[in-house]
Amino acid sequence: MSEHNNQDAQHQGEKPVKRREMSRRQFLSYTLGGATAFMGAGMLVPMVRFAVDPVLQPKTKADWVKVVEAGQITDEPKSFKFKVHQVDGWYENDAELEAWIAKDKDGNLFALNPTCKHLGCTVNWNANPEYKEQYFCPCHGAHYTIDGKNLAVAPAPLDQYDLKVENGFVYVGQLGPNKRVK
Ligand code: FES
Repeated sequence: MSEHNNQDAQHQGEKPVKRREMSRRQFLSYTLGGATAFMGAGMLVPMVRFAVDPVLQPKTKADWVKVVEAGQITDEPKSFKFKVHQVDGWYENDAELEAWIAKDKDGNLFALNPTCKHLGCTVNWNANPEYKEQYFCPCHGAHYTIDGKNLAVAPAPLDQYDLKVENGFVYVGQLGPNKRVK
């Protein structure tokens, strides 16, 4: 009898207690974990949104910037500096940009960006006697035609600004791929 009773006591005394302890612990950990995650998400979502919101906003097209009187532009490219207000995420500044503006044989004005398409140095017009009537980059010798077509070293043509003439003045706008050369 004593052996039988001992077994009963073991069965009755251990198993149910063990199950109750486990379920209480699980319940507490689920509840606390869920509440912590909920509160964490409540704080994190506005923070993440605050941080990335301006980055997710669609980029607006650059405004037109008045650069020079149209009468000053000839078939020889000339360099002009101008300022644009830039907004990059939360950061705003006034950047000074440069455009080389010329008139083609049909009388159309066009503006090129002098940033070399090799590694980003600045090209100049007619800067190397070996490459007359071309843009030349002093860093690694890239050179380009008057339309910005890449002739050596650089993998792509010079970028081109949108350009319009209004009331006798040249305005430049968005910078993009060169439309004058293939
Ligand atoms: Fe212009 Fe390399 S950056 S040639």
